[in-house]
Amino acid sequence: MRSLYSLQMIVMINLAVAVLCADKYSRSDFPPGFVFGSATSAYQVEGAASEDGRAPSIWDTFAHAGYANGATGDITVDQYHKYQEDVHLMAEMGLDAYRFSISWSRLIPNGRGPVNPKGLNYYNNLINELISHGIQPHVTLHNFDLPQALEDEYGGWINRRIVNDFTTYAEVCFQEFGDRVPYWTTVNEPDVFAVGGYDGGITPPRHCSPPFGVNCTRGNSSSEPYIAVHNILLAHASAARLYKKKYQGKQHGFIGISIYTTGNFPLTNSVEDAIATQRANDFFVGWIVNPLVFGDYPDTMKKIAGSRIPTFTNHESELVRGSFDFLGVIHYSSYYVEDDPGSWELKQRDYNTDLAVKISNVGNASLTYELPILPWGLQAVLEYFKQVYENPPIYILENGQRNRRNSTMEDTSRVNYLHAYIGSVLDAVRNGSNARGYFAWSFLDVFELLDGYESGYGFYYVDLDDPDLKRYPKLSAHWYSHFLKGGSISSDVLIKLKQNFFALSQGHFSQ
Ligand SMILES: *[C@@H]1O[C@H](CO)[C@@H](O)[C@H](O)[C@H]1NC(C)=O
Ligand SMILES: *[C@@H]1O[C@H](CO)[C@@H](O)[C@H](O)[C@H]1NC(C)=O
Ligand SMILES: *[C@@H]1O[C@H](CO)[C@@H](O)[C@H](O)[C@H]1NC(C)=O
Ligand SMILES: *[C@@H]1O[C@H](CO)[C@@H](O)[C@H](O)[C@H]1NC(C)=O
Ligand SMILES: *[C@@H]1O[C@H](CO)[C@@H](O)[C@H](O)[C@H]1NC(C)=O
Repeated sequence: MRSLYSLQMIVMINLAVAVLCADKYSRSDFPPGFVFGSATSAYQVEGAASEDGRAPSIWDTFAHAGYANGATGDITVDQYHKYQEDVHLMAEMGLDAYRFSISWSRLIPNGRGPVNPKGLNYYNNLINELISHGIQPHVTLHNFDLPQALEDEYGGWINRRIVNDFTTYAEVCFQEFGDRVPYWTTVNEPDVFAVGGYDGGITPPRHCSPPFGVNCTRGNSSSEPYIAVHNILLAHASAARLYKKKYQGKQHGFIGISIYTTGNFPLTNSVEDAIATQRANDFFVGWIVNPLVFGDYPDTMKKIAGSRIPTFTNHESELVRGSFDFLGVIHYSSYYVEDDPGSWELKQRDYNTDLAVKISNVGNASLTYELPILPWGLQAVLEYFKQVYENPPIYILENGQRNRRNSTMEDTSRVNYLHAYIGSVLDAVRNGSNARGYFAWSFLDVFELLDGYESGYGFYYVDLDDPDLKRYPKLSAHWYSHFLKGGSISSDVLIKLKQNFFALSQGHFSQ
Protein backbone atom coordinates (compact mmCIF):
# COMPACT_ATOMS: atom_id res chain seq x y z
CA MET A 1 0.00 0.00 0.00
CA ARG A 2 2.79 2.37 0.86
CA SER A 3 4.44 2.03 -2.53
CA LEU A 4 1.14 2.61 -4.31
CA TYR A 5 0.65 5.67 -2.14
CA SER A 6 3.97 7.18 -3.18
CA LEU A 7 3.37 6.28 -6.80
CA GLN A 8 0.10 8.14 -6.65
CA MET A 9 1.91 11.09 -5.08
CA ILE A 10 4.31 11.29 -7.97
CA VAL A 11 1.49 11.15 -10.46
CA MET A 12 -0.41 13.85 -8.60
CA ILE A 13 2.57 16.13 -8.32
CA ASN A 14 3.37 15.80 -12.00
CA LEU A 15 -0.22 16.59 -12.80
CA ALA A 16 0.02 19.62 -10.57
CA VAL A 17 3.09 20.90 -12.33
CA ALA A 18 1.43 20.26 -15.66
CA VAL A 19 -1.82 22.08 -14.94
CA LEU A 20 -0.61 24.78 -12.61
CA CYS A 21 0.43 27.52 -14.94
CA ALA A 22 -1.00 30.46 -13.00
CA ASP A 23 2.04 31.20 -10.89
CA LYS A 24 2.44 34.78 -12.04
CA TYR A 25 -0.78 36.72 -12.21
CA SER A 26 -2.61 39.82 -11.13
CA ARG A 27 -6.25 40.52 -10.53
CA SER A 28 -6.63 41.96 -14.01
CA ASP A 29 -6.21 38.38 -15.28
CA PHE A 30 -9.60 37.60 -13.71
CA PRO A 31 -12.85 38.45 -15.50
CA PRO A 32 -14.22 41.97 -14.88
CA GLY A 33 -16.37 42.06 -11.75
CA PHE A 34 -14.63 39.08 -10.13
CA VAL A 35 -14.85 39.87 -6.42
CA PHE A 36 -12.03 39.46 -3.90
CA GLY A 37 -12.90 39.61 -0.24
CA SER A 38 -12.34 38.10 3.14
CA ALA A 39 -14.65 36.37 5.60
CA THR A 40 -15.62 35.87 9.25
CA SER A 41 -18.80 34.85 11.07
CA ALA A 42 -20.84 36.40 13.88
CA TYR A 43 -20.03 34.24 16.90
CA GLN A 44 -16.38 34.08 15.88
CA VAL A 45 -15.76 37.84 15.88
CA GLU A 46 -18.55 39.82 17.51
CA GLY A 47 -18.16 39.17 21.21
CA ALA A 48 -20.70 41.16 23.27
CA ALA A 49 -22.38 37.79 23.66
CA SER A 50 -24.83 38.83 26.32
CA GLU A 51 -24.92 42.53 25.57
CA ASP A 52 -27.76 44.64 24.17
CA GLY A 53 -30.35 41.89 24.32
CA ARG A 54 -28.52 39.09 22.51
CA ALA A 55 -29.57 35.61 23.66
CA PRO A 56 -27.38 32.48 23.42
CA SER A 57 -27.13 30.28 20.35
CA ILE A 58 -26.28 26.57 20.27
CA TRP A 59 -22.67 27.67 19.66
CA ASP A 60 -22.56 29.64 22.94
CA THR A 61 -23.85 26.54 24.73
CA PHE A 62 -21.26 24.33 23.03
CA ALA A 63 -18.37 26.64 23.90
CA HIS A 64 -19.53 27.19 27.47
CA ALA A 65 -19.66 23.43 27.98
CA GLY A 66 -15.92 23.40 27.21
CA TYR A 67 -15.96 21.78 23.76
CA ALA A 68 -14.01 24.55 22.01
CA ASN A 69 -10.78 23.86 23.80
CA GLY A 70 -12.21 25.58 26.87
CA ALA A 71 -12.57 28.90 25.06
CA THR A 72 -15.69 30.91 24.22
CA GLY A 73 -16.76 33.69 21.87
CA ASP A 74 -18.00 35.86 24.74
CA ILE A 75 -15.51 38.60 23.87
CA THR A 76 -13.33 37.20 21.06
CA VAL A 77 -12.05 40.12 18.93
CA ASP A 78 -14.99 42.36 19.90
CA GLN A 79 -16.04 43.36 16.40
CA TYR A 80 -19.39 44.38 17.91
CA HIS A 81 -17.63 47.42 19.37
CA LYS A 82 -14.72 47.66 16.94
CA TYR A 83 -16.55 47.32 13.60
CA GLN A 84 -15.61 50.82 12.50
CA GLU A 85 -11.92 50.14 13.07
CA ASP A 86 -12.21 46.79 11.27
CA VAL A 87 -14.02 48.25 8.28
CA HIS A 88 -11.34 50.93 8.11
CA LEU A 89 -8.68 48.19 7.99
CA MET A 90 -10.64 46.38 5.28
CA ALA A 91 -10.82 49.54 3.18
CA GLU A 92 -7.15 50.23 3.72
CA MET A 93 -6.34 46.68 2.64
CA GLY A 94 -8.44 47.11 -0.50
CA LEU A 95 -11.15 44.46 -0.01
CA ASP A 96 -14.01 44.51 -2.55
CA ALA A 97 -16.27 42.61 -0.20
CA TYR A 98 -16.64 41.40 3.37
CA ARG A 99 -18.43 38.15 4.15
CA PHE A 100 -19.91 38.11 7.66
CA SER A 101 -22.91 36.46 9.28
CA ILE A 102 -25.86 37.75 11.22
CA SER A 103 -26.39 36.33 14.68
CA TRP A 104 -30.02 35.17 14.61
CA SER A 105 -30.23 35.32 18.41
CA ARG A 106 -28.92 38.89 18.42
CA LEU A 107 -31.57 39.98 15.93
CA ILE A 108 -34.44 37.81 17.23
CA PRO A 109 -33.34 36.61 20.68
CA ASN A 110 -35.99 33.91 21.05
CA GLY A 111 -35.60 32.67 17.51
CA ARG A 112 -39.03 33.99 16.60
CA GLY A 113 -41.14 36.83 17.84
CA PRO A 114 -39.94 40.32 18.61
CA VAL A 115 -36.95 41.82 16.83
CA ASN A 116 -34.24 43.26 19.08
CA PRO A 117 -33.87 46.94 18.07
CA LYS A 118 -30.25 47.01 19.24
CA GLY A 119 -29.42 44.01 17.09
CA LEU A 120 -31.08 45.70 14.14
CA ASN A 121 -29.11 48.83 14.84
CA TYR A 122 -25.78 46.97 14.97
CA TYR A 123 -26.20 45.27 11.61
CA ASN A 124 -27.49 48.47 10.01
CA ASN A 125 -24.40 50.28 11.30
CA LEU A 126 -22.02 47.57 10.11
CA ILE A 127 -23.64 47.42 6.66
CA ASN A 128 -23.66 51.21 6.29
CA GLU A 129 -20.05 51.42 7.37
CA LEU A 130 -19.08 48.84 4.73
CA ILE A 131 -21.08 50.57 1.99
CA SER A 132 -19.66 53.97 2.82
CA HIS A 133 -16.17 52.49 2.37
CA GLY A 134 -17.15 50.91 -0.95
CA ILE A 135 -17.12 47.36 0.46
CA GLN A 136 -19.85 44.94 -0.65
CA PRO A 137 -21.58 43.07 2.20
CA HIS A 138 -22.00 39.30 1.62
CA VAL A 139 -24.25 38.05 4.40
CA THR A 140 -24.72 34.54 5.79
CA LEU A 141 -27.88 33.93 7.80
CA HIS A 142 -26.96 30.78 9.73
CA ASN A 143 -23.40 29.89 10.63
CA PHE A 144 -23.57 27.09 13.27
CA ASP A 145 -25.51 29.47 15.56
CA LEU A 146 -29.18 28.51 15.82
CA PRO A 147 -30.90 30.34 18.70
CA GLN A 148 -30.72 28.06 21.75
CA ALA A 149 -34.39 28.85 22.41
CA LEU A 150 -35.44 26.94 19.27
CA GLU A 151 -33.14 24.02 20.08
CA ASP A 152 -34.72 23.82 23.54
CA GLU A 153 -38.27 24.31 22.34
CA TYR A 154 -38.49 21.73 19.59
CA GLY A 155 -35.06 20.32 18.75
CA GLY A 156 -34.03 22.98 16.22
CA TRP A 157 -32.99 21.67 12.82
CA ILE A 158 -34.36 18.16 13.33
CA ASN A 159 -37.90 19.50 13.56
CA ARG A 160 -39.82 20.59 10.47
CA ARG A 161 -41.02 23.65 12.42
CA ILE A 162 -37.61 25.20 11.76
CA VAL A 163 -38.61 25.87 8.14
CA ASN A 164 -41.15 28.53 9.15
CA ASP A 165 -38.99 30.12 11.79
CA PHE A 166 -35.98 30.31 9.51
CA THR A 167 -38.06 31.83 6.71
CA THR A 168 -39.49 34.46 9.06
CA TYR A 169 -35.99 35.34 10.31
CA ALA A 170 -34.70 35.53 6.74
CA GLU A 171 -37.56 37.84 5.81
CA VAL A 172 -36.69 40.22 8.63
CA CYS A 173 -33.16 40.36 7.16
CA PHE A 174 -34.36 40.90 3.57
CA GLN A 175 -36.77 43.59 4.72
CA GLU A 176 -34.37 45.45 6.96
CA PHE A 177 -31.03 45.05 5.15
CA GLY A 178 -31.88 43.86 1.65
CA ASP A 179 -31.77 47.34 0.13
CA ARG A 180 -28.00 47.29 0.76
CA VAL A 181 -27.04 43.57 0.78
CA PRO A 182 -26.44 42.15 -2.70
CA TYR A 183 -25.48 38.58 -1.66
CA TRP A 184 -27.24 36.27 0.80
CA THR A 185 -26.03 32.83 1.85
CA THR A 186 -28.80 31.07 3.75
CA VAL A 187 -26.93 28.32 5.61
CA ASN A 188 -23.20 27.81 5.98
CA GLU A 189 -21.88 24.33 5.06
CA PRO A 190 -24.89 22.17 6.03
CA ASP A 191 -22.85 19.03 5.25
CA VAL A 192 -20.34 19.70 8.02
CA PHE A 193 -22.98 21.14 10.34
CA ALA A 194 -24.98 17.90 10.07
CA VAL A 195 -22.12 15.41 10.32
CA GLY A 196 -20.35 17.27 13.13
CA GLY A 197 -23.47 18.23 15.02
CA TYR A 198 -25.71 15.17 14.62
CA ASP A 199 -23.44 12.16 13.95
CA GLY A 200 -20.17 12.45 15.87
CA GLY A 201 -21.60 15.18 18.08
CA ILE A 202 -18.35 17.16 18.00
CA THR A 203 -19.85 20.50 16.89
CA PRO A 204 -22.99 22.37 18.00
CA PRO A 205 -25.67 21.26 18.85
CA ARG A 206 -23.87 18.06 19.97
CA HIS A 207 -26.45 15.47 19.11
CA CYS A 208 -25.23 11.88 18.82
CA SER A 209 -25.94 8.33 19.90
CA PRO A 210 -23.57 5.52 20.83
CA PRO A 211 -21.45 3.98 19.47
CA PHE A 212 -20.91 6.91 17.09
CA GLY A 213 -20.50 9.67 19.61
CA VAL A 214 -20.11 10.03 23.35
CA ASN A 215 -21.62 12.19 26.08
CA CYS A 216 -24.41 13.65 23.98
CA THR A 217 -27.58 14.30 25.93
CA ARG A 218 -29.74 13.66 22.87
CA GLY A 219 -29.57 12.47 19.32
CA ASN A 220 -29.64 9.62 16.85
CA SER A 221 -26.51 9.37 14.72
CA SER A 222 -28.25 6.94 12.35
CA SER A 223 -30.94 9.28 11.17
CA GLU A 224 -30.55 12.83 12.48
CA PRO A 225 -27.74 13.98 10.13
CA TYR A 226 -30.04 13.17 7.20
CA ILE A 227 -33.06 14.80 8.83
CA ALA A 228 -31.11 17.96 9.68
CA VAL A 229 -29.89 18.41 6.11
CA HIS A 230 -33.38 17.73 4.77
CA ASN A 231 -34.85 20.49 6.92
CA ILE A 232 -31.97 22.82 6.05
CA LEU A 233 -32.66 22.30 2.34
CA LEU A 234 -36.38 22.94 2.84
CA ALA A 235 -35.66 26.05 4.95
CA HIS A 236 -33.13 27.32 2.41
CA ALA A 237 -35.57 26.75 -0.44
CA SER A 238 -38.41 28.43 1.42
CA ALA A 239 -36.30 31.52 2.18
CA ALA A 240 -34.87 31.62 -1.34
CA ARG A 241 -38.31 31.38 -2.96
CA LEU A 242 -39.58 34.16 -0.73
CA TYR A 243 -36.60 36.33 -1.63
CA LYS A 244 -37.03 35.73 -5.34
CA LYS A 245 -40.76 36.35 -5.26
CA LYS A 246 -40.97 39.36 -3.00
CA TYR A 247 -37.57 41.07 -2.77
CA GLN A 248 -35.28 40.26 -5.66
CA GLY A 249 -37.25 42.39 -8.14
CA LYS A 250 -36.65 45.57 -6.19
CA GLN A 251 -33.45 44.73 -4.32
CA HIS A 252 -31.59 43.10 -7.24
CA GLY A 253 -29.57 40.78 -5.00
CA PHE A 254 -28.66 37.10 -5.21
CA ILE A 255 -29.23 34.16 -2.88
CA GLY A 256 -27.36 30.89 -2.40
CA ILE A 257 -26.07 28.33 0.09
CA SER A 258 -22.53 27.17 0.86
CA ILE A 259 -21.04 23.68 0.76
CA TYR A 260 -17.92 22.34 2.46
CA THR A 261 -15.80 20.58 -0.14
CA THR A 262 -12.58 18.60 -0.17
CA GLY A 263 -10.52 17.53 -3.14
CA ASN A 264 -11.17 13.77 -3.25
CA PHE A 265 -8.67 11.59 -5.09
CA PRO A 266 -8.65 7.78 -5.27
CA LEU A 267 -5.82 6.26 -3.26
CA THR A 268 -5.12 3.61 -5.88
CA ASN A 269 -6.25 3.12 -9.45
CA SER A 270 -8.56 0.25 -8.45
CA VAL A 271 -12.18 0.33 -9.56
CA GLU A 272 -13.23 0.12 -5.88
CA ASP A 273 -11.35 3.28 -4.96
CA ALA A 274 -12.73 5.11 -7.99
CA ILE A 275 -16.27 4.20 -6.92
CA ALA A 276 -15.48 5.13 -3.32
CA THR A 277 -14.24 8.54 -4.49
CA GLN A 278 -17.46 9.15 -6.40
CA ARG A 279 -19.35 8.10 -3.28
CA ALA A 280 -17.41 10.65 -1.22
CA ASN A 281 -18.32 13.36 -3.74
CA ASP A 282 -21.96 12.31 -3.53
CA PHE A 283 -22.00 12.24 0.27
CA PHE A 284 -20.46 15.70 0.65
CA VAL A 285 -21.31 17.80 -2.37
CA GLY A 286 -24.12 15.72 -3.90
CA TRP A 287 -26.05 15.56 -0.60
CA ILE A 288 -26.64 19.32 -0.85
CA VAL A 289 -26.23 20.15 -4.53
CA ASN A 290 -28.10 17.26 -6.22
CA PRO A 291 -31.39 18.36 -4.59
CA LEU A 292 -30.68 21.98 -5.57
CA VAL A 293 -29.85 21.19 -9.20
CA PHE A 294 -31.78 17.97 -9.90
CA GLY A 295 -34.45 17.93 -7.16
CA ASP A 296 -33.34 14.79 -5.29
CA TYR A 297 -30.51 13.17 -3.31
CA PRO A 298 -27.89 11.15 -5.21
CA ASP A 299 -29.04 7.58 -5.92
CA THR A 300 -26.07 6.18 -3.97
CA MET A 301 -27.19 7.98 -0.82
CA LYS A 302 -30.82 6.89 -1.17
CA LYS A 303 -29.79 3.31 -1.77
CA ILE A 304 -27.36 3.16 1.14
CA ALA A 305 -29.24 5.20 3.77
CA GLY A 306 -32.63 3.73 2.80
CA SER A 307 -35.46 4.86 5.05
CA ARG A 308 -33.08 6.89 7.22
CA ILE A 309 -32.82 9.58 4.56
CA PRO A 310 -36.06 11.56 4.17
CA THR A 311 -37.92 11.54 0.86
CA PHE A 312 -38.80 14.72 -1.00
CA THR A 313 -42.45 14.96 -2.02
CA ASN A 314 -42.93 16.16 -5.59
CA HIS A 315 -43.87 19.56 -4.29
CA GLU A 316 -40.75 19.81 -2.08
CA SER A 317 -38.55 18.60 -4.86
CA GLU A 318 -39.88 21.38 -7.11
CA LEU A 319 -39.37 23.91 -4.34
CA VAL A 320 -35.75 22.91 -3.73
CA ARG A 321 -34.73 22.46 -7.36
CA GLY A 322 -33.30 25.66 -8.78
CA SER A 323 -33.67 27.57 -5.50
CA PHE A 324 -30.35 29.36 -5.80
CA ASP A 325 -28.59 32.04 -7.81
CA PHE A 326 -25.09 30.93 -6.81
CA LEU A 327 -23.35 28.21 -4.80
CA GLY A 328 -20.77 28.97 -2.14
CA VAL A 329 -17.73 26.71 -2.08
CA ILE A 330 -15.76 26.25 1.12
CA HIS A 331 -12.45 24.53 0.59
CA TYR A 332 -9.27 23.95 2.57
CA SER A 333 -7.71 20.62 1.67
CA SER A 334 -7.60 17.38 -0.30
CA TYR A 335 -7.61 13.71 0.67
CA TYR A 336 -7.00 10.27 -0.72
CA VAL A 337 -10.07 8.09 -0.65
CA GLU A 338 -9.94 4.34 -0.18
CA ASP A 339 -12.89 1.96 -0.30
CA ASP A 340 -13.77 0.47 3.11
CA PRO A 341 -15.79 -2.67 2.37
CA GLY A 342 -15.76 -3.76 6.04
CA SER A 343 -18.13 -0.88 6.70
CA TRP A 344 -21.04 -2.59 4.93
CA GLU A 345 -21.02 -5.42 7.46
CA LEU A 346 -21.70 -3.16 10.43
CA LYS A 347 -25.27 -3.49 11.68
CA GLN A 348 -25.42 -0.11 13.37
CA ARG A 349 -25.34 2.60 10.75
CA ASP A 350 -24.43 6.27 10.64
CA TYR A 351 -23.38 8.72 7.94
CA ASN A 352 -19.76 7.54 8.16
CA THR A 353 -20.49 3.82 7.87
CA ASP A 354 -22.82 4.70 4.98
CA LEU A 355 -19.99 6.61 3.33
CA ALA A 356 -17.75 3.55 3.74
CA VAL A 357 -14.40 5.06 2.92
CA LYS A 358 -11.07 5.55 4.63
CA ILE A 359 -9.34 8.83 4.00
CA SER A 360 -5.69 9.76 4.27
CA ASN A 361 -3.76 12.95 3.86
CA VAL A 362 -2.40 14.11 0.57
CA GLY A 363 0.90 15.90 0.69
CA ASN A 364 3.52 16.52 3.30
CA ALA A 365 2.68 14.14 6.13
CA SER A 366 5.12 15.85 8.49
CA LEU A 367 2.99 19.00 8.51
CA THR A 368 0.95 18.67 11.68
CA TYR A 369 -0.48 22.12 11.90
CA GLU A 370 -0.30 24.02 8.66
CA LEU A 371 -2.39 22.74 5.78
CA PRO A 372 -0.53 21.23 2.84
CA ILE A 373 -0.64 23.37 -0.30
CA LEU A 374 -2.66 21.37 -2.86
CA PRO A 375 -4.20 23.97 -5.16
CA TRP A 376 -5.23 21.46 -7.84
CA GLY A 377 -7.71 20.12 -5.27
CA LEU A 378 -9.71 23.36 -5.44
CA GLN A 379 -9.32 23.41 -9.20
CA ALA A 380 -10.73 19.88 -9.34
CA VAL A 381 -13.70 20.89 -7.16
CA LEU A 382 -14.50 23.85 -9.41
CA GLU A 383 -14.16 21.57 -12.43
CA TYR A 384 -16.55 19.08 -10.75
CA PHE A 385 -19.23 21.77 -10.26
CA LYS A 386 -18.76 22.80 -13.86
CA GLN A 387 -19.10 19.33 -15.31
CA VAL A 388 -21.61 17.69 -12.98
CA TYR A 389 -23.88 20.61 -12.05
CA GLU A 390 -24.23 22.62 -15.25
CA ASN A 391 -21.60 25.20 -14.31
CA PRO A 392 -23.48 27.29 -11.75
CA PRO A 393 -22.19 30.71 -10.60
CA ILE A 394 -19.75 30.00 -7.76
CA TYR A 395 -18.33 32.09 -4.96
CA ILE A 396 -15.43 30.58 -3.06
CA LEU A 397 -16.59 31.72 0.36
CA GLU A 398 -13.76 30.27 2.46
CA ASN A 399 -10.22 29.17 1.73
CA GLY A 400 -7.16 29.81 3.85
CA GLN A 401 -4.14 28.63 5.74
CA ARG A 402 -3.95 27.69 9.40
CA ASN A 403 -1.11 28.58 11.73
CA ARG A 404 -0.67 28.34 15.43
CA ARG A 405 -2.21 31.59 16.52
CA ASN A 406 0.82 33.28 17.98
CA SER A 407 3.55 31.47 16.11
CA THR A 408 4.64 34.19 13.71
CA MET A 409 3.68 37.46 12.07
CA GLU A 410 5.78 36.51 9.08
CA ASP A 411 3.21 34.02 7.81
CA THR A 412 5.02 32.86 4.68
CA SER A 413 3.04 29.61 4.56
CA ARG A 414 -0.21 31.61 4.34
CA VAL A 415 1.16 33.73 1.51
CA ASN A 416 2.34 30.62 -0.36
CA TYR A 417 -1.02 28.94 0.22
CA LEU A 418 -3.10 31.91 -1.00
CA HIS A 419 -0.76 32.51 -3.94
CA ALA A 420 -1.24 28.91 -5.08
CA TYR A 421 -4.98 28.63 -4.41
CA ILE A 422 -5.93 31.96 -6.01
CA GLY A 423 -3.83 30.82 -8.98
CA SER A 424 -5.82 27.58 -9.12
CA VAL A 425 -9.06 29.57 -9.21
CA LEU A 426 -7.67 31.52 -12.16
CA ASP A 427 -6.77 28.25 -13.90
CA ALA A 428 -10.30 26.95 -13.32
CA VAL A 429 -11.83 30.19 -14.61
CA ARG A 430 -9.64 30.05 -17.70
CA ASN A 431 -10.92 26.52 -18.27
CA GLY A 432 -14.54 27.67 -18.15
CA SER A 433 -15.53 27.59 -14.46
CA ASN A 434 -18.23 30.08 -13.57
CA ALA A 435 -16.42 31.16 -10.35
CA ARG A 436 -17.14 34.84 -9.68
CA GLY A 437 -15.54 35.61 -6.38
CA TYR A 438 -13.02 34.52 -3.77
CA PHE A 439 -13.05 35.13 -0.02
CA ALA A 440 -10.02 34.32 2.10
CA TRP A 441 -10.71 32.93 5.55
CA SER A 442 -10.26 34.91 7.70
CA PHE A 443 -9.97 38.68 7.89
CA LEU A 444 -8.51 38.46 11.37
CA ASP A 445 -7.69 35.66 13.78
CA VAL A 446 -11.04 34.59 15.20
CA PHE A 447 -12.53 32.20 17.73
CA GLU A 448 -12.32 28.89 15.84
CA LEU A 449 -14.99 26.19 16.06
CA LEU A 450 -12.97 23.36 17.61
CA ASP A 451 -9.76 24.83 18.94
CA GLY A 452 -10.85 28.23 20.18
CA TYR A 453 -7.84 30.54 20.09
CA GLU A 454 -5.21 27.89 19.45
CA SER A 455 -5.10 28.42 15.68
CA GLY A 456 -5.40 31.45 13.46
CA TYR A 457 -6.19 31.85 9.77
CA GLY A 458 -6.26 35.65 9.81
CA PHE A 459 -4.57 38.45 7.91
CA TYR A 460 -4.57 40.29 11.22
CA TYR A 461 -3.23 39.06 14.51
CA VAL A 462 -5.24 40.27 17.50
CA ASP A 463 -3.48 40.59 20.83
CA LEU A 464 -5.97 38.96 23.20
CA ASP A 465 -3.93 39.96 26.24
CA ASP A 466 -4.28 43.63 25.35
CA PRO A 467 -7.52 45.07 26.83
CA ASP A 468 -7.79 47.11 23.65
CA LEU A 469 -7.51 43.95 21.46
CA LYS A 470 -5.19 45.70 19.04
CA ARG A 471 -5.00 44.33 15.48
CA TYR A 472 -1.61 43.82 13.78
CA PRO A 473 -1.25 43.08 10.05
CA LYS A 474 0.71 39.92 9.29
CA LEU A 475 2.91 39.62 6.22
CA SER A 476 -0.07 38.06 4.41
CA ALA A 477 -2.13 41.23 4.96
CA HIS A 478 0.47 43.20 3.02
CA TRP A 479 0.62 40.50 0.37
CA TYR A 480 -3.16 40.37 -0.15
CA SER A 481 -3.33 44.16 -0.18
CA HIS A 482 -0.64 44.27 -2.88
CA PHE A 483 -2.71 41.83 -4.94
CA LEU A 484 -6.02 43.62 -4.29
CA LYS A 485 -4.56 46.92 -5.41
CA GLY A 486 -3.58 45.44 -8.75
CA GLY A 487 -0.01 44.43 -8.02
CA SER A 488 1.33 41.47 -9.92
CA ILE A 489 1.94 38.31 -7.94
CA SER A 490 5.00 36.11 -8.20
CA SER A 491 7.46 34.60 -5.76
CA ASP A 492 9.58 37.79 -5.99
CA VAL A 493 6.79 39.76 -4.35
CA LEU A 494 7.05 37.67 -1.20
CA ILE A 495 10.81 38.20 -1.03
CA LYS A 496 10.38 41.98 -1.36
CA LEU A 497 7.58 42.15 1.18
CA LYS A 498 9.66 40.12 3.60
CA GLN A 499 12.56 42.50 3.28
CA ASN A 500 10.26 45.40 4.03
CA PHE A 501 8.10 43.70 6.61
CA PHE A 502 9.62 45.41 9.61
CA ALA A 503 9.14 48.85 8.07
CA LEU A 504 5.70 47.87 6.80
CA SER A 505 4.50 46.73 10.19
CA GLN A 506 5.30 50.13 11.65
CA GLY A 507 3.31 52.03 9.10
CA HIS A 508 0.75 51.84 6.39
CA PHE A 509 0.13 49.70 3.37
CA SER A 510 2.17 50.35 0.29
CA GLN A 511 0.45 50.84 -3.02
C1 LIG B 1 -17.32 12.15 28.40
O1 LIG B 1 -17.68 12.38 29.75
C2 LIG B 1 -16.77 11.83 30.69
C3 LIG B 1 -17.35 12.05 32.07
O2 LIG B 1 -17.73 13.38 32.25
C4 LIG B 1 -15.41 12.51 30.51
O3 LIG B 1 -14.47 11.95 31.40
C5 LIG B 1 -14.93 12.31 29.08
O4 LIG B 1 -13.73 13.01 28.86
C6 LIG B 1 -15.98 12.78 28.09
N1 LIG B 1 -15.55 12.47 26.73
C7 LIG B 1 -15.63 13.32 25.74
C8 LIG B 1 -15.08 12.86 24.41
O5 LIG B 1 -16.13 14.41 25.83
C1 LIG C 1 -32.63 6.12 15.32
O1 LIG C 1 -33.60 6.28 14.30
C2 LIG C 1 -33.81 5.08 13.56
C3 LIG C 1 -34.69 5.43 12.37
O2 LIG C 1 -35.77 6.23 12.77
C4 LIG C 1 -34.42 4.04 14.49
O3 LIG C 1 -34.65 2.84 13.79
C5 LIG C 1 -33.44 3.80 15.64
O4 LIG C 1 -34.00 2.90 16.57
C6 LIG C 1 -33.07 5.08 16.33
N1 LIG C 1 -31.94 4.83 17.23
C7 LIG C 1 -31.85 5.35 18.44
C8 LIG C 1 -30.59 5.09 19.18
O5 LIG C 1 -32.75 6.04 18.92
C1 LIG D 1 7.40 18.95 5.00
O1 LIG D 1 7.18 19.83 6.10
C2 LIG D 1 8.28 19.93 6.98
C3 LIG D 1 7.83 20.74 8.18
O2 LIG D 1 7.40 22.02 7.80
C4 LIG D 1 9.46 20.53 6.24
O3 LIG D 1 10.58 20.60 7.08
C5 LIG D 1 9.79 19.67 5.01
O4 LIG D 1 10.80 20.29 4.24
C6 LIG D 1 8.57 19.45 4.15
N1 LIG D 1 8.85 18.49 3.10
C7 LIG D 1 8.50 18.68 1.84
C8 LIG D 1 8.84 17.58 0.90
O5 LIG D 1 7.91 19.68 1.44
C1 LIG E 1 -10.92 21.74 -18.79
O1 LIG E 1 -12.25 21.60 -19.28
C2 LIG E 1 -12.43 20.45 -20.11
C3 LIG E 1 -13.84 20.53 -20.66
O2 LIG E 1 -14.80 20.62 -19.63
C4 LIG E 1 -12.20 19.20 -19.29
O3 LIG E 1 -12.36 18.07 -20.08
C5 LIG E 1 -10.77 19.24 -18.72
O4 LIG E 1 -10.57 18.12 -17.89
C6 LIG E 1 -10.57 20.52 -17.94
N1 LIG E 1 -9.16 20.62 -17.54
C7 LIG E 1 -8.77 20.68 -16.25
C8 LIG E 1 -7.30 20.79 -16.00
O5 LIG E 1 -9.54 20.66 -15.32
C1 LIG F 1 -0.70 32.72 22.78
O1 LIG F 1 -2.10 32.60 22.65
C2 LIG F 1 -2.80 32.36 23.86
C3 LIG F 1 -4.25 32.21 23.51
O2 LIG F 1 -4.43 30.98 22.94
C4 LIG F 1 -2.55 33.50 24.85
O3 LIG F 1 -3.23 33.27 26.06
C5 LIG F 1 -1.07 33.62 25.09
O4 LIG F 1 -0.82 34.71 25.93
C6 LIG F 1 -0.32 33.80 23.79
N1 LIG F 1 1.13 33.74 24.02
C7 LIG F 1 1.94 34.69 23.62
C8 LIG F 1 3.38 34.46 23.90
O5 LIG F 1 1.56 35.70 23.06
